Amino acid sequence: MNELMIKQYCGLLETMDEPLSIISNTCAFISDMMSEVSWVGFYFKHDDNLLLGPFQGHVACTKLPIGQGVCGTCFKKNTALIVDDVHEFEGHIACDNGSKSEIVLPFLINNELVGVLDLDSYMFARFKTHDLETLSKLLELLGTKLKDQSIIDKFF
Ligand code: SME
Repeated sequence: MNELMIKQYCGLLETMDEPLSIISNTCAFISDMMSEVSWVGFYFKHDDNLLLGPFQGHVACTKLPIGQGVCGTCFKKNTALIVDDVHEFEGHIACDNGSKSEIVLPFLINNELVGVLDLDSYMFARFKTHDLETLSKLLELLGTKLKDQSIIDKFF
């Protein structure tokens, strides 16, 4: 786990109050702090799909079916996924043909699964267990920060 990154994120969270701004800056923070990341962003549940939220990177798919692709599978199983080679993940949804590896984590607020955090890389096997631990901690902090807000319904 990257303790310095966690500490800096705590400091950043203290400076912000608006949910959409916090989530947007979370993407920018991760993009700034992690190398070899081509895309980072959130997808949020809406009906039977995950819809694109704040992100950093190229234009991306706006609607992902729950249960399909890496994000949809992560959400359906409520389990983080590390994919070393996206070409070998059946049903992988390619928003960017250059993407080679991916990590996706469930995002919960008040114990409710509301979406996922997705990171892509142009490197194979970019994401390791320590990245998963760091990102899990960031999401835990973010979920706690947003616990009194019913934000997602307002997004879409
Ligand atoms: N590759 C993802 C789709 C989202 S983009 O990578 C931003 C998937 O298979 O769910």
